[in-house]
Amino acid sequence: MMPGENIEESGKDSVVSNGAVYEEREVDDVLSPEDLSEMLAAGTKESHDKAENAPFVKDFLRGRIRREIFKLGAVALYYTYTAMEEEIERNKDHPQFAPLYFPAELHRHQSLGRDLQYFYGEDWERSISCSPATQRYVARIHEVGASEPELLVAHAYTRYMGDLSGGQVLRKVAQRALKLPPTGEGLNFYLFDAIHNAKTFKQLYRSRMNELDLDTATKERVVAEANRAFQFNLEVFAELEEVRKTLPDDSADEAIPAHGDMQGDISK
Ligand code: HEM
Repeated sequence: MMPGENIEESGKDSVVSNGAVYEEREVDDVLSPEDLSEMLAAGTKESHDKAENAPFVKDFLRGRIRREIFKLGAVALYYTYTAMEEEIERNKDHPQFAPLYFPAELHRHQSLGRDLQYFYGEDWERSISCSPATQRYVARIHEVGASEPELLVAHAYTRYMGDLSGGQVLRKVAQRALKLPPTGEGLNFYLFDAIHNAKTFKQLYRSRMNELDLDTATKERVVAEANRAFQFNLEVFAELEEVRKTLPDDSADEAIPAHGDMQGDISK
């Protein structure tokens, strides 16, 4: 265990049993409401509810995702993560971000590039463009990275914690609905192959967020920024939904129902 990893010992006691002395260690990992991880979870709950209920997200979970829209979603993610990871690199030694620097485990720029190559071919970089809602999201990420790096954690939290939470289910749904190869082409984004246990990693990430030296006012600004990040995501989803409505033959390659147990399987 690393120092300060949010697991404190408390109320140590010794128990004598059959002549052997066992040290009873109560591990107290109860979080406090002033912890950034708790403030973020509570302070973005409403945004999260909205995100879960966005028509694009609900349809996706039900397996109602069309290939063109999935591809445009991957393009939006590509620009978003490229911006976010550029700013993370720029701020990797900044004390208010450094403990959250996990490029090998988290960064998605390369995996999204591979997915786009699969979907758009060798010339993918010239075949894609950044949508208006994605441009606004990207602009904000750059603004934060350049002038308010203490808020960068909000953007990393909103995306990476979400990906580690629902990603595995979305991967299965997309693979089925779009009939993608079981070998994982087109779905690299959803595969965190350097993370063996998402739940444990999320705990580590939360404890690293809680180690950041931020005063209460700054933590509150981080929560507000996370809500902004959710809002940017919602705007990208709304844009994808609008594009979907313009596609001809809106019933052709969708509506492969996900297994009933899938939605309940989003355990983290
Ligand atoms: C966490 C479900 C969409 C961001 C979670 C968790 C669940 C969940 C079950 C686990 C909470 C825990 O670890 O205790 C869903 C479902 C979604 C969805 C069913 C869609 C239908 C999204 C979207 C975003 C997002 C679109 C952001 C763009 C997050 C974040 C967390 C999270 C940041 C971490 C919360 C925390 O522990 O602080 N989600 N999610 N989720 N999700 Fe989602």
